[in-house]
Amino acid sequence: ERERTLAMIKPDGLLGNYTDKIKTIILESGFGIIKERMVQLDDEKAALFYAEHSGKSFFQSLVKYMTSGPVYVMVLEKPDAVSRWRALIGPTDARKAKVSHPSSIRAMCGSDLERNCVHGSDSPQSAAREISFFFGDISPAVTKHDE
Ligand code: CMP
Repeated sequence: ERERTLAMIKPDGLLGNYTDKIKTIILESGFGIIKERMVQLDDEKAALFYAEHSGKSFFQSLVKYMTSGPVYVMVLEKPDAVSRWRALIGPTDARKAKVSHPSSIRAMCGSDLERNCVHGSDSPQSAAREISFFFGDISPAVTKHDE
């Protein structure tokens, strides 16, 4: 069954010119890109997007990083899109990714635990929330049942 996830290229990924490389990996991995846009987050929007981390020690720094430049958000679709995209990006800590998952996207373009160059929704529920956060209501994925 088709599923959707939110993928984001973070400010360090855009600054490092990784957008084309990342989009090539996405398409070669069989994802459809349903929607895409560039967004400059402000403090309020970044804090809202990461509301679940608002009590954490790294929250202020995270908001500063995520507002330091534009981000590129995409809605990806394919079967098991959430877990497939998470597998492609690799572990949160890009420094660890370089050792344990050297062919992952974070190993390629990330720097450390914070500056990890890409985001992926962690569950179908998060994906639904994050997709509507950036794109509002969009038509749902076509399921086998509808076809
Ligand atoms: P992501 O998993 O996409 O969403 C939460 C982000 O917070 C994460 O990527 C990192 O950019 C950042 N982050 C998570 N844990 C830490 C941490 N312990 N210290 C600093 N930044 C973190």
